[in-house]
Amino acid sequence: MSAFVRFDQVKKVYRMGEVEIHALRDASFSIEKGELCVIVGPSGAGKTTLLNILGGMDTLTEGKVLLGGEDISAYSSRQLTAYRRHDIGFVFQFYNLVPNLTALENVELAAQICREPLDAAGVLRSVGLEHRLSNFPAQLSGGEQQRVAIARAIAKNPKLMLCDEPTGALDYTTGKAILKLLQDMSRKNGMTVVIITHNSALTAMADRVIQVKSGSVTGEEVNASPVPVEEIEW
Ligand SMILES: Nc1ncnc2c1ncn2[C@@H]1O[C@H](COP(=O)(O)OP(=O)(O)OP(=O)(O)O)[C@@H](O)[C@H]1O
Ligand SMILES: [Mg+2]
Repeated sequence: MSAFVRFDQVKKVYRMGEVEIHALRDASFSIEKGELCVIVGPSGAGKTTLLNILGGMDTLTEGKVLLGGEDISAYSSRQLTAYRRHDIGFVFQFYNLVPNLTALENVELAAQICREPLDAAGVLRSVGLEHRLSNFPAQLSGGEQQRVAIARAIAKNPKLMLCDEPTGALDYTTGKAILKLLQDMSRKNGMTVVIITHNSALTAMADRVIQVKSGSVTGEEVNASPVPVEEIEW
């Protein structure tokens, strides 16, 4: 059987006037359904570029990307819109909540554009925010705002959850709680989750680790015994 996610010799070149930046030179890897995958590598390695291509927010220069057997790298911009809307949940470093909507309204807004959304209040409850439904983002702590952002992505009921440095703006303890939430979601709900990080200690929590360096995948390992986030120190 073929993998759920498949990157096949992906290249990405950004052209800035005369200058060419090779953000991805030759990226190949796969991810199985239900896995928690950690992508690790130094700054500028191409991690965000890779995630944006997988999430349909950027296009590749050469190669192929398959999700569930579908060649998303051949999608038209209209197909990519539907793909981003229905299939992908995205969590960013700086939450990106709508400031003048409450926590509940932020989640409802995203759920409205999907085919089979989950109940917004229910999802907020599942991330421990049942007492914060009517708070605006500015009235929430960083960790709470990130929980809302995760709830917003979950409520879309996506095939794939993509998180770009989801704890980058958070303190140690809050970051840990967020990672535990993502690990639980993958474990308990069988969701396929991809997390980008600089921090190689976090590879211990993953079912699969993909190492990226200078635009290439330099390592891909399956971790037979991933560690609960609570037990990792960094
Ligand atoms: N839109 C863009 N236009 C031009 N160059 C870009 C663009 N996006 C990324 N790059 C370049 O591509 C390379 C890879 O960038 P990318 O953001 O994917 O790295 P990263 O691994 O996510 O780094 P970080 O850990 O700092 O977030 C870098 O050299 C970056 O400057
Ligand atoms: Mg990045």
